[in-house]
Amino acid sequence: MNTSIEKLLNDQIKYEAKASMQYLAMASWADENGYNGIADFFYNQSVEELDHMRKLVRFVNERGGHVIIPALDQPVSSYDSLNSLFESFLKSEEFVTDKINHIIFECLQHKDYNVHNFMQWYVTEQLEEEATARSLLDKLNIIGDDKSGHYLFDRDINDIATEAAPPA
Ligand code: FEO
Repeated sequence: MNTSIEKLLNDQIKYEAKASMQYLAMASWADENGYNGIADFFYNQSVEELDHMRKLVRFVNERGGHVIIPALDQPVSSYDSLNSLFESFLKSEEFVTDKINHIIFECLQHKDYNVHNFMQWYVTEQLEEEATARSLLDKLNIIGDDKSGHYLFDRDINDIATEAAPPA
């Protein structure tokens, strides 16, 4: 495997791990603040990101590359509001999308069609996750400061998220 592609894949392993820990911290904050639906949503997101990381680890090893399991900084653990929580979620997903797009670009530059093909799964996944994050934030912006709106959002978050995801 081209060393610069291998480096990018290792960076991506770190970003997926970071996202997983960040979403775990978000879940815990939501749990602590009585938002059980939102907590479940982020607990699940955290597991999904771990899967994304593991998929990359296995792929790099299968291709004969060297995996570096990253050290991580402590994630942000408190939020001023549900809006800031979901703004951070969207920002995190947009960041990951940018990084994936960069890998795709570099694969084409280096004519590494194998990694390019592998990364297509991530492209589709990001489309779905960004759409979900954007749609949840849109709903919260409509709700504003309304407490009963927050209650319903917490109760219905999984339905809203499912509706937001584009068909596979
Ligand atoms: Fe695996 Fe949502 O980034």
